[in-house]
Amino acid sequence: MVERGHKPGPLAAPAAASDAPTGAVDVTSDRVTLSLPSGESAEILLYGATVVSWKTADGAEKLFLSDKAVLDGTKAVRGGIPLVFPVFGPPPADHATSALPQHGFARTSVWNVLGSDTSIPSSVSVELGLSADSLAPAARAAWPHEFILLYTVTLTAASLGTKILVRNTGAAAFDFKLLFHTYLRLADAGAAAVTGLNGVSYADKVAGGATATETRDEVTIPGEVDRVYRDVPGAVVVKQDGTPVYSVERSGLPDVVVWNPGEQAAAKMGDFGPADGHRSMLCIEAGAVAEWVVIEPQAVWEGGVAVAAV
Ligand code: BG6
Repeated sequence: MVERGHKPGPLAAPAAASDAPTGAVDVTSDRVTLSLPSGESAEILLYGATVVSWKTADGAEKLFLSDKAVLDGTKAVRGGIPLVFPVFGPPPADHATSALPQHGFARTSVWNVLGSDTSIPSSVSVELGLSADSLAPAARAAWPHEFILLYTVTLTAASLGTKILVRNTGAAAFDFKLLFHTYLRLADAGAAAVTGLNGVSYADKVAGGATATETRDEVTIPGEVDRVYRDVPGAVVVKQDGTPVYSVERSGLPDVVVWNPGEQAAAKMGDFGPADGHRSMLCIEAGAVAEWVVIEPQAVWEGGVAVAAV
């Protein structure tokens, strides 16, 4: 069971191995801020364990956060890194998740701070937890499985790591999908390209779920794109005007969703802004979503992704 914290206070930092300055973890009632002596920072809301900011040492924001994003805990955050679990997209009517909202409850639940690590100067991390007994009653009733999620966010000089562990603490198996819905900030999505997908089969949600195999070395974003690439073999790299700007490396997460709403779908979202914000973002979502993951009682499953700003 993950204990529900009362009011999280500052966490005691373990003694540093040397006198070198270490990173800091600042916990307030609604968020955790990670920072490194070299200037990088990340901010994570306890609501949804949503990473809402990741800045490199030069102060550049690497995540897109809608300027209409609702941050008061009444709606999933439009931007940053919402966590998708235990269902991806609209729940299928014939599945155990059918009564859950789109993308599940992880992104709309309040998570607990479990611990942090500042023991080495070049890295700082926080661990957040969510368990069945800390869910809101509606989510608990809609999906009555016993589970623990342990979520570690790690900031280093060049990367942001997000890693999750799922444990089935109940007596029956269940199945789930999970995804890090990472909104990367771009200078111009219209001049961006994604590599690492050639030869990979995908379902095109814009084309009603039609499946095909990618034949391009560089996948461009001319407008609305919503594709679930299945079993992607290696790192995915995002280029801006031909220059690599992000490298996305996964472990235990076979699939990659590439999503940009384009102008029209963005305009239909009440919480998406500015009006041309779709040009400043591209979601590269690492996950296990093409197939359900079955987890047996007391078993553990792990997946993680590291996004490097290159
Ligand atoms: C993506 C899906 O992961 O999330 C899209 O592939 C979806 O189909 C998008 O539109 C945003 O979902 P939501 O629930 O945050 O509006």
